[in-house]
Amino acid sequence: MNMNNKNIIKIGLFGYGTVGRGLYELLQRVPESGMVISRVCVRDVARHQTESPSLIFTADRREVLDDPEVNLIVELIDDADAAYEIVTEALRRRLPVVTGNKKMLAHHLPELIELQKEMHTALLYDASACGSIPVIRNLEEYYDNDLQVSVKGILNGSSNFILSKIFNEGMDHAAALHLARRLGFLESDPTLDLDGWDSLFKLVILTLHAFGVYVEPEQVFCYGITNMNDNDIRFAREKDRRFKLLGLAEKLPDNRLTLSVIPHLISRNKFIYSCEDEFNGVVIKGLFYGKQFLVGRGAGGHPTSSAVLSDISAIRYDYFYRYKRMDCAGELPVFSNDLSFRAYVRYNTEDDLDLMQFEEIYERYTSDKFHYAVGRVNLRRLHDIRPLLSERGIFIAAYPPD
Ligand code: HSE
Repeated sequence: MNMNNKNIIKIGLFGYGTVGRGLYELLQRVPESGMVISRVCVRDVARHQTESPSLIFTADRREVLDDPEVNLIVELIDDADAAYEIVTEALRRRLPVVTGNKKMLAHHLPELIELQKEMHTALLYDASACGSIPVIRNLEEYYDNDLQVSVKGILNGSSNFILSKIFNEGMDHAAALHLARRLGFLESDPTLDLDGWDSLFKLVILTLHAFGVYVEPEQVFCYGITNMNDNDIRFAREKDRRFKLLGLAEKLPDNRLTLSVIPHLISRNKFIYSCEDEFNGVVIKGLFYGKQFLVGRGAGGHPTSSAVLSDISAIRYDYFYRYKRMDCAGELPVFSNDLSFRAYVRYNTEDDLDLMQFEEIYERYTSDKFHYAVGRVNLRRLHDIRPLLSERGIFIAAYPPD
């Protein structure tokens, strides 16, 4: 960045929701940081101006981008298309950018990497994945000389919060959802959290930093907890397990790489079993060190804005992602859905069961209102029938043997 440590960072902020406001509050608490918010672009100027009279709000994005004082852009809006326009425009003007927009990043990372290189301008986004956990910078910087095997974890705070409330406090789904919304954990469209899409976007970003491979979100099987019901919860309890919605990127033999977002039935002996509430937990596995576990708050205004703050500081000392794994000497792994795994499937009709095309069935149960099978299913098949699974109210969870 074209400034030395004594210069003040003058932030042009886009968005004043949970994280944008969180950033403002954090900056109030650390006046010595040398960072100020110059202008804020929002849709509803009047509302925010009343809330925070000391800030300058505008609805016109050019007023922020054109402000000669602004020397860094922080983009925290929830419209991925508008975010893309703002971020690319800022980079073209050689304004460094910090963003938390996982959906936008997951869809545009390759071109954003090129644009950063072309403009010699940094785009940092640790806040986009796992809130306060510096997982991207860890993957980028630390595991340089090791062979990554897998990155697996709870990447969505609100669904984990909801699952925790249901499992630990017996709260019903609707009440837990309401509480998650009140605490500011959910996306404005909560289906992004509950159906796994938010986890998927984060997984795509982490995969690029862990393995140097960009996988389009549409290629990945992604299934959330929307269809989970009381029978599923009872099943998990009987087996002494808990459902956790996990994103997984894993190297397979023959240099293949598989990605998925699926609820897992997790047993007590796993690190992530006790990762509760809005916390995220990421298990990074390497060939030489085995497993490491990063845990921290994955949602909420202050935890996420602390990651934004950290990225702003990093830009001050000219940090940028080097995407080293994309340029590694060996061949990059190739994405594949060709994998079968053991799953618990709760279904409604025999047709549903046929639809799954189980490779093997180990266990089956049927009663008037509850039918399930445990068996091997193929990820590619699940990806092909994804809309039908949703429509038919089928619930599916990976059920690894202990
Ligand atoms: N809705 C997201 C979550 C917010 O619950 O994890 C943080 O990315």
